[in-house]
Amino acid sequence: MSQDELAEHPLARAVKEPPTAWDPQGIDITVPSIARVYDAILGGKDNFPVDRAVAEHLMQLAPRGRQSALYNRALLGRGVRFMAEQGVRQFIDLGSGLPTASNTHQMAQAAAPDARVVYVDNDPIVLAHGRALLAENEHTTVVTADFREPGSVLDHPDLTALINFDEPVGLLLFAVVHHIEDDEDPAGILAAYRERLASGSYLFLSHFVTHGEETRELEKVMLADLGRGRFRTLDEITAFFDGFDLQEPGVVYNPLWRPEEPLPETMTLTERLVAGGLGRRA
Ligand SMILES: C[S@@+](CC[C@H](N)C(=O)[O-])C[C@H]1O[C@@H](n2cnc3c(N)ncnc32)[C@H](O)[C@@H]1O
Repeated sequence: MSQDELAEHPLARAVKEPPTAWDPQGIDITVPSIARVYDAILGGKDNFPVDRAVAEHLMQLAPRGRQSALYNRALLGRGVRFMAEQGVRQFIDLGSGLPTASNTHQMAQAAAPDARVVYVDNDPIVLAHGRALLAENEHTTVVTADFREPGSVLDHPDLTALINFDEPVGLLLFAVVHHIEDDEDPAGILAAYRERLASGSYLFLSHFVTHGEETRELEKVMLADLGRGRFRTLDEITAFFDGFDLQEPGVVYNPLWRPEEPLPETMTLTERLVAGGLGRRA
């Protein structure tokens, strides 16, 4: 995008002009955002030069990073369909990111048209784009909140308008827990969500996997450029399912979770970068 096009972009105008009732607020296009960098990696258009610079930096280290992100989105789709087939009709997608090709509500509502979906993200750009996408979908909404504060998410009036905690919920934490550090108590945060979930609910989570030297630079760049990024071992990721019964095949590299397509011939770092799992609350 040229400087002129950038200046004309609705979001660029939004930061220069006084906010109106519908304007996205709090969007700083000079600082990279996790949501926009991920959008850039996926090949989306809702990002700015500062985000693309970080995406390029990461993809110098992981040249097939887009494929890893696509594996992540594909896993999200398989798990949402699985939960819908098990009868789940309400989903909370924490750290949902910018709308992309196949979003949680589209996959859930394709399987079950009455499925309700609440997207939660702390980046206001997600709300700005989500509103446009969801203008006519009464079963879906976007809430701007920080998932590290479970009370402010679970008691948010827009969320409680759609979610009935007496019934099973599909709780998604996709590619987001690696943005919280150990001293922020991820296990305690997850426990707070778990306590509100009825029997038959699911936790569906994906997370960057550490591979020692192979991923050290990536982790450093994420920390330096985005301020957040914590790669964990498969055992550490599995521990996040405390209080849930892990469903087969457990926590595995993304392409290996209940694959619907032929498996990749080799498991390079692209395939091993992110792992996911699904747990059921008894
Ligand atoms: C890498 S993207 C993942 C998007 C989507 N879940 C997926 O897997 O395709 C991570 C998202 O989490 C959001 N995020 C990071 N920290 C968050 C927090 N503390 N509360 C809410 N959202 C957060 C970011 O804004 C970003 O949109």
